[in-house]
Order: sequence, then C-alpha cells, then structure tokens
Amino acid sequence: MNSNQSHTLSNEEDGLFRFVYTSQSTSGWRKRTSDLANIIRVAKINNQRYNITGIIFHQRKFYYQYAEGSEKSLTDLKNNLLLDKRHFRIKIHDFTHIDRRRFQKGSLWTHAPKTLKKNQHSIQQRLLPLRPEQWQGDEWDEFARLFMN
Ligand SMILES: Cc1cc2nc3c(=O)[nH]c(=O)nc-3n(C[C@H](O)[C@H](O)[C@H](O)COP(=O)(O)O)c2cc1C
Repeated sequence: MNSNQSHTLSNEEDGLFRFVYTSQSTSGWRKRTSDLANIIRVAKINNQRYNITGIIFHQRKFYYQYAEGSEKSLTDLKNNLLLDKRHFRIKIHDFTHIDRRRFQKGSLWTHAPKTLKKNQHSIQQRLLPLRPEQWQGDEWDEFARLFMN
C-alpha cells in the first residue's frame, strides 16, 4: 500500500464531515477568470490527495463550495481559505459530521448544471443566479442538490 492509499483509508476512518461556505471574489471580472483557473488547478491536486469531494461553483462575484472529507482535511482547507486574499466575506454555512458522501471523487469541478431533473428546475429558478446573501434557512444545502445526479 502506498502512502496515498493509507491516507485515504485513515481519512474515512476519522469520520466524514462536510464544509459548506459562500464568499465573494475580491477581483474584478477579468481577474476572476484567472483566479478561478488557478484555484481549480490547485484544488484538483490537493483535493484528490486529501480525498475531498464536492463542488466549487462560481457565478458573478460569488463562490460557493460544498466540500466533503475528513475533519482534518477540511479544517486545513478552511484555514487556507480564511487566509486567501482572492475572496472575502466568507460565510460558513455548515461544518458538521455526515454519514456518506453525496459527491463522487473528482466531481468537484462543476461550473453550472447543464441538464436538470424535474425537481431541480424549481431550485434553479429560485437560487440562480447565485445570491447567497439572500439565502434563507437551508437554501445553502438545497443549492448543492442542483449538482447531484
Ligand atoms: C473560492 C476558493 C475555493 C478554494 N477551494 C480550494 C479547494 O477546494 N482545495 C484547495 O486545496 N484549495 C482551495 N482554494 C485555495 C486555498 O485557499 C489555498 O490557496 C490552497 O489550498 C493552498 O494550497 P497549497 O498550500 O498547495 O499552495 C480555494 C480558494 C478559493 C478562493
């Protein structure tokens, strides 16, 4: 067993958590595009290494991230994010224990849902374009359902 595999196994044994937040980009639209490309590039490598699954969604100036993984890996991610100057007004919606992953490995990079099921249309109509400052109740959780198949 190589070190990657042993890390993956111990992650799941530690228990599974999810970390969901929204934030706002600090950059204008031109720089946002390159910010996002850089974020995705690093996230792809790191999240695969630490077995973090979920989605990063970006629209206009807003970011939404739903991340699943071990408590340690998500705490490290959160600490990095809180120091990241590319965004601010970070609002943490949830950091709790979960029983199972809702996203498969590597399904982190969805930008916009393309084909939707019937019950996803109303979520799309209500929650897109992304306006997280107007979210109420568990709309931060409902939003993630847009990306589940
Ligand atoms: C909106 C947003 C989402 C991010 N998502 C991730 C992520 O999922 N995984 C990750 O490793 N870094 C993510 N980052 C980048 C981290 O803040 C940080 O730059 C990175 O984890 C540092 O990785 P390094 O130590 O390998 O350079 C994100 C940054 C922003 C602004």
